[in-house]
Amino acid sequence: MKFFVDTADIDAIRELAELGMVDGVTTNPSLILKSGRDILETTKEICDLVEGPVSAEVVAIEFDQMLKEGKHLATIAPNVCVKVPLTWAGLRVCKILSQEGTKVNVTLCFSANQAILAAKAGASFISPFIGRLDDINVDGMDLIRDIREIYDNYDFETEILAASIRSANHMKDAALIGADVATAPPKVIHDMIKHPLTQSGLDQFVKDASEAKIKIV
Ligand code: E4P
Repeated sequence: MKFFVDTADIDAIRELAELGMVDGVTTNPSLILKSGRDILETTKEICDLVEGPVSAEVVAIEFDQMLKEGKHLATIAPNVCVKVPLTWAGLRVCKILSQEGTKVNVTLCFSANQAILAAKAGASFISPFIGRLDDINVDGMDLIRDIREIYDNYDFETEILAASIRSANHMKDAALIGADVATAPPKVIHDMIKHPLTQSGLDQFVKDASEAKIKIV
């Protein structure tokens, strides 16, 4: 499973990239707002830092303006992936940009039917939102499972990008189901390493190494 980082925080991306944990990045208007920076400038900086796809989201909801924005975002760098909402306007833009060779990430997916439409429109990525479904007491992982089965039935090439990930358990479950990609906030990726037995085991080894006066170099 590929790891995308769901943030516009350059330092956080750099830190994870140095660990080899970044196959791509996703941003959205809320993350741009949180960063307090300009979308074009930030996207360019991220694209220079990361080799994989960097999703930058359009803000228009009407077709003509959305297409214009998508085309403009695509000029920032070759690895920009234009993110469009799961609306008919978004799917029209997806079809056009995909045919022109630009990667498109269709976002705000909450049903398997929506995911089928995105695949038919040529999306490179579909972003089903796990956490936001969990928030309304619908199991987000069931959606990832359904989309996986449907895409496999028809050999759709659209990659399942599990989004709105809130915990390390979400990462494990998405990987078990076979999501192609998971996009997670930096904290969640950092949390994946945590296990109390690793920490207590290490504490004991450190203590015993000191008692045994072990010196390696
Ligand atoms: C990523 O592409 C999505 O915009 C993001 O994962 C949404 O996450 P949230 O539901 O935690 O805001």
